[in-house]
Amino acid sequence: MNKKIEKVLNKQIEAEAVSSHLYLAMASWAENSGINGTANFLYAHADEERMHMLKLIKFVNERGGKAVIPSIPAPKQNFESLQDVFSRLLEHELMVTNMINEVVFLCLQEKDYTTHNFMQWYVSEQLEEEALARNILDKLKMIGNDKGGLYLFDRDITTIQATIKPNAGAAN
Ligand code: FEO
Repeated sequence: MNKKIEKVLNKQIEAEAVSSHLYLAMASWAENSGINGTANFLYAHADEERMHMLKLIKFVNERGGKAVIPSIPAPKQNFESLQDVFSRLLEHELMVTNMINEVVFLCLQEKDYTTHNFMQWYVSEQLEEEALARNILDKLKMIGNDKGGLYLFDRDITTIQATIKPNAGAAN
């Protein structure tokens, strides 16, 4: 495998691990705050990120490269509110999208069309994840501090995921 490509894919492996860790911390915070629907949503999201990482690890190894399992720093443990959680989540996803775009750009530069093709799954996954995070954040902004609204949001958050992510899990 092209060494430059191997290097950026390993950076991407690290980014997915960091994402999984961050969403796990968010899930645990939500669970401790009694926001259980959101906690379950975030636990599932952390699992998805782990799956994104695994998919990359296997691809690198199968293509003759060497996947590096990264060490990752402890994520932020405390959050102000659900809006704080999902603003950070969206910001994090935008950063991941930029990284993926850079991988895709390098693939074209290096004429590595196999990896370019493989990365298209991540490109569409990012579109969905960003749309989902924006949608959730819009709802939270509308609800503001209304306790009844937040109760319903927490109860219905998995429905939001289901309607926006029709092919969630399709890459398993
Ligand atoms: Fe795997 Fe949310 O990016």
